[in-house]
Amino acid sequence: MDEIMDCFEQGIERKHTNCEKWDAPFVKEGVVPMWVADMDFEVAPAITERLVRAAKKGAFGYQLLSDRYYDAVIRFMGERHGYPVERDWICYVPNVVLGLFFGLQSVTGEGDEVIVQTPVYGPFFRVVNDSGRVLVESPLKNEDGYYTMDFEDLERKITEKTRALLFCNPHNPSGRVWKEEELERLVSICAEHDICMISDDIHSDIVTKDHEHRMIAPICRRKGVKCITCTSPSKPFNLASVHVANCLIEDMEIRERFKGFLAAHHVNDCNAFAEEALIGAYEESGEWLAQMNEYVECNLDYFVDYIHEHIPALKVRKPEGTYLVWVDFSGTEIAQENIKEYLCEKCRILVNDGEFFGRAGRGFVRFNLACPRKNVEFALENLRKQFA
Ligand SMILES: Cc1ncc(COP(=O)(O)O)c(C=O)c1O
Repeated sequence: MDEIMDCFEQGIERKHTNCEKWDAPFVKEGVVPMWVADMDFEVAPAITERLVRAAKKGAFGYQLLSDRYYDAVIRFMGERHGYPVERDWICYVPNVVLGLFFGLQSVTGEGDEVIVQTPVYGPFFRVVNDSGRVLVESPLKNEDGYYTMDFEDLERKITEKTRALLFCNPHNPSGRVWKEEELERLVSICAEHDICMISDDIHSDIVTKDHEHRMIAPICRRKGVKCITCTSPSKPFNLASVHVANCLIEDMEIRERFKGFLAAHHVNDCNAFAEEALIGAYEESGEWLAQMNEYVECNLDYFVDYIHEHIPALKVRKPEGTYLVWVDFSGTEIAQENIKEYLCEKCRILVNDGEFFGRAGRGFVRFNLACPRKNVEFALENLRKQFA
């Protein structure tokens, strides 16, 4: 096994590092946490080297972003995702959820309706509710674990007050990597009803080998739909606490409003490590990213195949992207409200409860497999003892 793969196989000790996933007060001794969506892998060496060099400068005052930062974003979006981004479109934000929040403020007014397709990453609900907008759910269709958009339902839910769609691409928690034709149809509906697209592409660099992430922004542009795309190296390169993300906003007016909100809330400066981490990730860690995707996909295959073979009471489908697996526990005898605790007590694993993703998540549990294989094996063996 080569050096990078060996690092994934070893993982990194995160306990007693003030790490949310392992050190939250409710994570009991002997429990393997598979909840928070970050990785139990050491980051790519190029990133660490850059951060160490930045730390050694010993200067941590207010910081600007240089041309190299913008060039790295432009190159990465162009070469990896075929999206030609202009420098002016790039708006630095410390994290994606904040980008979603101010993005929503920039394209909607109080009382406007915002559609989210559920189940979906929990903060989507809060971003809408916390800003005085009206949340409208359009549940995805689940056919045998394969989630698709319910376009008929979506069209029925649109009213003259619908202003925006908060979209997750690829989709957390189902792991769908949306196809071109799905995106085309979605954008056509938005075009017809003058709905702005806010696309959360945070998982776009974690995809399985038979799938390719497609950005929705170029389709929006072609069809005349205003779009804000939220991206970050934080998921694929495990940099959540470095606080570096970018909202890509083509429309000048929306961009100015967006920047106005950031300024009004004093989100002006970036930290001394953001630029170095992003450059190390986007420019110098391509091989690491490829191997991480390979390692994670082996974990996904192993997990899903094992459940199909040994634990038929649980229903699961291999995700097309993300390192997250969405497992249906409704065929077991455990009541929804007890599943998480049951898994913690009996299986010694900590997961995300399906209801974190809205009502459509009832009966489900989300597992994070961005971890060494031994943790996946631990989880599966314990699940088998309880549910096989
Ligand atoms: C879809 C999605 N968006 C946003 C986030 C959080 O991003 P950030 O920490 O940059 O706010 C997550 C984290 O799990 C996520 O899954």
